[in-house]
Amino acid sequence: MALKTLEDLLDEGVSGRCVLVRADLNVPLDDSTITDDGRVRAALPTIRRLAQAGAKVIVATHLGRPKGAPDPRYSLRPVAGRLGELLGAEVKLAGDVVGPEAKSLAGSLADGSVGLLENVRFDPRETSKSDTERAELAAELAALAEAFVSDGFGVVHRKQASVYDVARILPAYAGDLVLKELDVLRKLTGDPVRPYVVVLGGSKVSDKLAVIEALLPKVDKLLIGGGMAFTFLAAQGHDVGGSLLETDFVETARKLLDEHGEQIVLPVDVVIAEALAADVEVRTVPADAIPAGWKGLDIGPRTVELFAKVIAQAKTAFWNGPAGVFELAPFAAGTRGVAQAIVDSDAFSVVGGGDSAAAVRLLGLPEDGFSHISTGGGASLEFLEGKDLPGVAVLGGEN
Ligand code: 3PG
Repeated sequence: MALKTLEDLLDEGVSGRCVLVRADLNVPLDDSTITDDGRVRAALPTIRRLAQAGAKVIVATHLGRPKGAPDPRYSLRPVAGRLGELLGAEVKLAGDVVGPEAKSLAGSLADGSVGLLENVRFDPRETSKSDTERAELAAELAALAEAFVSDGFGVVHRKQASVYDVARILPAYAGDLVLKELDVLRKLTGDPVRPYVVVLGGSKVSDKLAVIEALLPKVDKLLIGGGMAFTFLAAQGHDVGGSLLETDFVETARKLLDEHGEQIVLPVDVVIAEALAADVEVRTVPADAIPAGWKGLDIGPRTVELFAKVIAQAKTAFWNGPAGVFELAPFAAGTRGVAQAIVDSDAFSVVGGGDSAAAVRLLGLPEDGFSHISTGGGASLEFLEGKDLPGVAVLGGEN
């Protein structure tokens, strides 16, 4: 089955037809304020093209991880507002997912207008393990529209009703964002221009183990920062004080260091504090001299310099996961330094979604300093691991 694209759907004609678009508008919120609207902006091209061609566009997305029931903290109201601002037209929000409000929204949209369903995860069938339950919700979603466009790249690794099952019912097409993301990520898994340097951060080795194992045979250098670096430092025999440590993974980290010591680059100094707060005393110490009771919360300046030198040589660079707790000013320099080094390099550079994409914007780095900022955190990592992505496979696509 060949993958059909938005282009194909537009060629078939959408004027006056209801098109369901699965986007990933799962944005970070502070109460009801969106702190990073990158995913909303990334969803615009597909939505705009459909609306301009006269479609009645019904957007479905999740927000956060509500427990399968309506929860006002996860309402899409702020997202509907922001989407409307960016589109320059009101986006009506249905108060339910597939209930009377969703049906009335679908029935009342004018040609070329856009409406949003309430958080799909308010319906427990969205994430159900039961194929039957998911198929039921998918059928109700499908009944709202005549065609389905899959454009939520950040969620294509999830076998969920609005991502996977609905694409088995309606004629399904890959949206522009999904196509662009796949195109970029294939450059990393295919034959990347060398040196190929990967920077990984974030808190847990356990979350990144599969991708580390998949990447090591392919990369020239793997720079490790963030909380996960401490498990590797412990594997080298260092005392990491009160830093984040996954004791169950120390042995695995030791094995990786034994087998790939040439490629793996670890922090040489760290910024430490006794507590995670913005107004605490901080010190910078060598990575092998963290005092008891102190925790490493960022990579230090010598590490930034070391990482920057490696990144400067790169022709291809992929970065996923912050180097420190960048949300707090005293621990932001490492992440900023790594990101700046990527901006300054000539490498074809990809930022892998989630926190690192948010960091780029929150730290005020130029978005056009990177070749691509992915909207997918887990999805881009699973792609790099070589896993099948259900939301892509169901469209007839491949990694
Ligand atoms: C993400 O934030 O990575 C995507 O929106 C998927 O969210 P999930 O991990 O809750 O499925």
